[in-house]
Amino acid sequence: MTSRIVPVKPFDLVIFGGTGDLAYRKIFPALFHRYRDRQFGGDTRIVGTSRRAMTSEAYRAAIREALLGFAGATSADAEELDGFLAVVDFVAVDAQTDQGWSDLKDWFGPKAQEVRGFYLATAPDLFGGIAARLAAHGLVTPTARIIVEKPIGTDGASAERINDQLGAVFKESQIFRIDHYLGKETVQNLLALRFANILLEPLWNSNYIDHVQITVAEALGVGGRGAYYDHSGALRDMVQNHLLQLLCLVAMEPPASLDADAVRDEKLKVLRSLEPIDAGNAATLTVRGQYKAGASNGDTVPAYLDDAGASASTTETFVALKATIANWRWSGVPFYLRTGKRLHEQRSEIVVVFRRVPHLLFKGVSGLMMDNRLTIRLQPDEGIKLGLTIKEPGPGGMRLQHVPLDMSFAEAFNARAPEAYERLLMDVIRGNATLFMRRDEVQAAWNWIDPIREAWSRTSDAPRPYVAGSWGPAGSVALIERDGRTWNEEFA
Ligand code: BG6
Repeated sequence: MTSRIVPVKPFDLVIFGGTGDLAYRKIFPALFHRYRDRQFGGDTRIVGTSRRAMTSEAYRAAIREALLGFAGATSADAEELDGFLAVVDFVAVDAQTDQGWSDLKDWFGPKAQEVRGFYLATAPDLFGGIAARLAAHGLVTPTARIIVEKPIGTDGASAERINDQLGAVFKESQIFRIDHYLGKETVQNLLALRFANILLEPLWNSNYIDHVQITVAEALGVGGRGAYYDHSGALRDMVQNHLLQLLCLVAMEPPASLDADAVRDEKLKVLRSLEPIDAGNAATLTVRGQYKAGASNGDTVPAYLDDAGASASTTETFVALKATIANWRWSGVPFYLRTGKRLHEQRSEIVVVFRRVPHLLFKGVSGLMMDNRLTIRLQPDEGIKLGLTIKEPGPGGMRLQHVPLDMSFAEAFNARAPEAYERLLMDVIRGNATLFMRRDEVQAAWNWIDPIREAWSRTSDAPRPYVAGSWGPAGSVALIERDGRTWNEEFA
């Protein structure tokens, strides 16, 4: 099955941090795929910038390497690669001084397209300065867009500062704050699943749902990102954005439309309804951990401290927490969230666990009476699974069996799952902000996260150690088992 491609108008895209990891691993591969699918053509122009001098030829050669390495391109794709690279240029621009900016202005020249995007694949402390220079050099047109990556700041106050700086130059409708989880296929499918089927929505509340689990587990360690990560930690790096966005999509009320503001208004209400976690309850509602040396896929792997090049650090590489949403729909339904590096496997999933039937008809019947579980697998093997109880086939007595209705998108549609950035970049060009975070959402997320950090910083407890390759510290299991529930470990 092939998906329908709706071409976008030609555009100009400037990538600040054009020689960085994000550009090479994610942005260019995503753009290449969209080019290869003819979503845009040769009138589009893309320019990478960075401080160091480099010719456009050398840059194209580096991008070609990146595409061969990260976009699944092969030498057989030579024609497509040449075609794509022909739209790519390089201009040396120093984000922190005025050097190179007039060259960038010249690059736009008479061929400038109506839609121009500025992608800031840089550290967030450069966002404000770049926005100001874009304005000072007359590069901001009424149809220009600026794209910024998470993390927006390191807490509510710094996010406010950065958002003020962006807002001084761009209107909110021109600012696209990326949370790449919103571009993942299964995440968008959550919207379809909930709002395009009559089946689930009537049950989607505290009358029928016992609890929700959101797991984003990574098998990898912090790798070469130790310097960034040690100042961030899992709460800021993953929970403030990706996990809370997933929680919002599960918990939000049906929006009136798919318009950006209609969807974001509903997500904002969820964020604002989260019960605070602070010094009074953080010890019972949160668990943080840090990985020790262990094994991953059969290989011995070092501890976080070695990965981060630190002799001591209280940065958490794992967080589990129990969140509750104080509103009519979700009263009394816990949302258990967990995420960590160097866990047993790479697995991201949302599990919605329904309540048991109110009356047990099958007394004395052998077999298991289990709760219904809806599992939405984000990665790997994107898909949806619904666990149901049926009668075991056969002429004998009534035996019950729990069976999955399991749908793997890859098998069902036989299509390549696009990378999140492919969808998001095209949405920027189309000017569709539904899958991007609005300023007040980012702020509301920090408002909930900041007191947790503060509570942690007030205790002398260090993050609990866990062995690399495990499912995190024992406290994470205790967090949910204390409530008579268990983490979903089965992933067949
Ligand atoms: C990023 C985090 O936002 O998401 C990384 O900064 C993390 O630490 C990554 O590894 C996970 O993304 P994905 O798409 O691989 O699940």
